[in-house]
Amino acid sequence: MNYNIAVIPGDGIGPEIVEEAKKVLDAVGRKYNHVFHYTEVLMGGASIDKTGVPLTEEALAAAKKSDSILLGAVGGNVSTSPWYILPPALRPEAGLLALRKGLNLFANIRPAILFDELKGACPLKDEIIGNGFDFVVMRELTGGLYFGERKTEEVDGIRTAYDSLVYNENEIKRIARWAFDIAMKRNKRVCSVDKANVLDSSRLWRQVVKEVAKDYPEVELTDMLVDNCAMQLVKDPKQFDVILTENMFGDILSDEASMVTGSIGMLASASLGDTKLGLYEPSHGSAPDIAGENKANPIATILSAAMMLRYSFELEEEANAIENGIKNVLKKGYRTVDIMSEGKTMVGTKEMGQFIIKEL
Ligand code: NAD
Ligand code: IPM
Ligand code: MN
Repeated sequence: MNYNIAVIPGDGIGPEIVEEAKKVLDAVGRKYNHVFHYTEVLMGGASIDKTGVPLTEEALAAAKKSDSILLGAVGGNVSTSPWYILPPALRPEAGLLALRKGLNLFANIRPAILFDELKGACPLKDEIIGNGFDFVVMRELTGGLYFGERKTEEVDGIRTAYDSLVYNENEIKRIARWAFDIAMKRNKRVCSVDKANVLDSSRLWRQVVKEVAKDYPEVELTDMLVDNCAMQLVKDPKQFDVILTENMFGDILSDEASMVTGSIGMLASASLGDTKLGLYEPSHGSAPDIAGENKANPIATILSAAMMLRYSFELEEEANAIENGIKNVLKKGYRTVDIMSEGKTMVGTKEMGQFIIKEL
């Protein structure tokens, strides 16, 4: 089969990690008789430098036309990069938000899995890790604080800024359905995370999620306040199966979830909507502090490519082959700097990619 993939290398470590993911996809293609055609698309700082905007109409159209999108990361150092002198709508992240919104990718799946081989890189104690854990953060991606009205103005001579957190019941329903559907294929437990003791949007969230749960009698639904959830993720991550939450909470909790899997460099993500066209990207950013040094861990991006094969192309066997390849490389003791621990062999971005390909 032929597949058309829009590839957005982006900024910082983006081009380095995407390069490795493409090589892995090509190796899978050779083994299983698929051809992946790549169309490079500009977004983020790279697009600002060439076109003045973080995502052009043409770039969005090219992404829409593809079968699926593979993204590295966008953005620079927010304190020092000249991109952050621009008005907010012209900064790198605005391109990513426009892409997510433009394609209606409201369901962001971030699987947090502690591979057995990486227990040494997990900062938690052995008795907390136990037999390891495997949960999913299901993050709403096109609503909430990210897309509510915002403004900055002077009120009686005092600089004042507003960001609004808005959800309607339909937005909550559709993401809740995703969470319950995914839970049905896993351990049938959904923990909905909110701040219903303070926020109206969370009170509506909790109510609507309970209504949706009625269609899934086999799934156990619990609610948890987000501050408690942040604590529970390090106290006992094994308790979770599917964490369902809104955009901003999901952003923060998924970075926390990544660290208990050993590193942010391990956390993949898939963003989907009502069609098979998805956006696949690591959960981490452009890591400007290590860009261009062959140090970045490409595994989160490669795992995201595996998610693309599974969710957009329904190539389950091929996705499994990538995931097993990664496990084997970790078993052999190869580690990038972020997951390095005693007695292991440190390798760079390119070498990690090469070792994974060898396992296919
Ligand atoms: P970051 O995730 O880029 O980096 C945080 C820390 O984790 C850094 O020390 C970095 O070196 C390390 N790290 C991240 N990915 C790694 C990897 N694959 N291997 C090894 N180490 C890794 O977050 P930040 O520093 O807060 O943000 C930097 C820029 O990235 C900002 O401009 C931000 O807006 C952007 N960002 C983009 C995305 C995206 O494109 N999806 C996501 C998050 C942040
Ligand atoms: C992520 C990132 C983005 C987000 C930024 C870059 C807009 O942190 O994908 O987690 O907050 O969604
Ligand atoms: Mn984030």
